[in-house]
Amino acid sequence: MSCRQSRPLAVCLLTLLTLTAAARAKDPVRAAHAMVVAQEPLAADVGRRVLLDGGNAVDAAVAIGLALAVTHPSAGNLGGGGFMLVRLANGKTTFLDFREAAPEKATRDMYLDAEGNPTKDSIFGWRSSGTPGSVAGFEFAHKKFGSKPWAELVAPALQLARNGFSVSQTLADSFHSSEKMLTADPESKRIFLRDGTQYKAGETFKQPELADTLARIAKGGAKEFYEGETAKRLAAAMAAHGGLVSTRDLAAYKVVERAPLEGNYKQFHIITAPPPSAGGVGVLQMLGILDGTNFESDGPNSVKAVHYEAEAMRRFYADRSEYLADPQFYNVPVKSLLAADYVAWRRRTIDPNHPTPSEYIGPGLQRAQAAHVSWFESSETTHYNVVDAKGNAVAVTYTLNNSFGNGITAPGLGFLLNDEMDDFAAKPGVPNMFGVTGGDANAIEPGKRPLSSMTPTIITKDGKFFMAVGAPGGSRITTGVLQVIVDVLDFHMNPQDAVDLPRFHHQWKPDTLYLQNGFPADTEAALARMGYPIKPISGVARVEAIVMNNGVLEGGTESRLDGKVSGY
Ligand code: DON
Repeated sequence: MSCRQSRPLAVCLLTLLTLTAAARAKDPVRAAHAMVVAQEPLAADVGRRVLLDGGNAVDAAVAIGLALAVTHPSAGNLGGGGFMLVRLANGKTTFLDFREAAPEKATRDMYLDAEGNPTKDSIFGWRSSGTPGSVAGFEFAHKKFGSKPWAELVAPALQLARNGFSVSQTLADSFHSSEKMLTADPESKRIFLRDGTQYKAGETFKQPELADTLARIAKGGAKEFYEGETAKRLAAAMAAHGGLVSTRDLAAYKVVERAPLEGNYKQFHIITAPPPSAGGVGVLQMLGILDGTNFESDGPNSVKAVHYEAEAMRRFYADRSEYLADPQFYNVPVKSLLAADYVAWRRRTIDPNHPTPSEYIGPGLQRAQAAHVSWFESSETTHYNVVDAKGNAVAVTYTLNNSFGNGITAPGLGFLLNDEMDDFAAKPGVPNMFGVTGGDANAIEPGKRPLSSMTPTIITKDGKFFMAVGAPGGSRITTGVLQVIVDVLDFHMNPQDAVDLPRFHHQWKPDTLYLQNGFPADTEAALARMGYPIKPISGVARVEAIVMNNGVLEGGTESRLDGKVSGY
């Protein structure tokens, strides 16, 4: 572990002691000028190349997003959606919401059976898809901030799809672990499982249909995807299989540019995701609850730190279940949820020595209860950060929701479809695949965007870029991002150590503290003695982070995956 020069010695020693027990200590990758962190190395290198060729951080982000759709098909996508947070070196910030939208024909009860119980149709099959936003999002970002020709940014993805690339062990494993779902769709089986003869590491994977789609997008831009041949073929396949996304939905799709949520924490300024993400409200509310508790005094992953962070998480997730949704459809009380008095009241309800049972914690603005929830393990989204040599920073999280989305590939088009409709509350109080519940606020309505946990975040200090961070991981995203933020800001860890530190998660319901495998046993025992019901988890949010440390960029990437820090 490397202690950052600015941190006090006592904190260094404490962090070091805690870390030796808790995690492998690693130096972060460093770069003097610019940096990309992404969850797939070929796409990270595409971004670095764009930066070296004089492109800015948004150019690189667009090229990476398109490349990931080729090299990381479990999450990178053309058929999904996401969020891009931009902070320019001049301090201007914006948030591009290219989240999927519920199709015009979607109805509130569309996933309930005759008895009124939720079916699996929000996760599997053609009806699980919302109108995709990724291509529109990338084009919008490029038109607003890009400096390179659009076709030049599509070119690396197009080449990777056309000429193929060597299958990594991670990619081979991901095909293998989603075999059942991919086999259910003939087109997915043909492309991703080579008709049943699975790809092995080192073999070349070519995607000619996806290359053709990318070639049309390179030429015709998002208009081609939403109104051209791609749109017509996608809508025709949807209609043939009972899916809802129509040519009207595609033509009507719009990126929404939103003001990011901003707030202060100690000497840092946090810029993060507004609704329809719950993530930014979560990060700001949880940091607000933690501020002043002295939760950091015993070091990262100490009993005290975990207790206060878990109690902050519990309180936020109770609020999330009731008040967070698409702001175009529901009046999200962001100001109230972040009001100093409200946050202080939430903080005061934390007992320093005991967990508060979730049944005593309702959504705080007006008490309510929700049903018990289950847990879903296998899932996929992806996050990447880019900082260019001028100091422009971009954080992108985008997704198909599940790993490989709903497992269906649009015939002849080469890209997978999302199952983002599952992020709506199919039935009030009934958990979705991430075990989170919602109510009226997040009910299905045509054109509405489902509530998300994706939390791309950029942090500044003294008005300058300090950190970019985000993660995949379903409902564990927001808590994972929170932990890496406090690990860096409060525990002064470098970003690699911070992303490697075993994580924990609490989401109010079920009333369970999830500890990642490898969590220090003595901390776990002490938390159990305090009264926490504990369960181990293997899957946590796979966080990616870039931190500016005394003029040098340091990158931390998920070593539990194939991530890469690529800088110069
Ligand atoms: O928007 C959301 O919160 C989810 N659709 C994200 C899904 C996810 O992170 C799955 N990945 N690990």
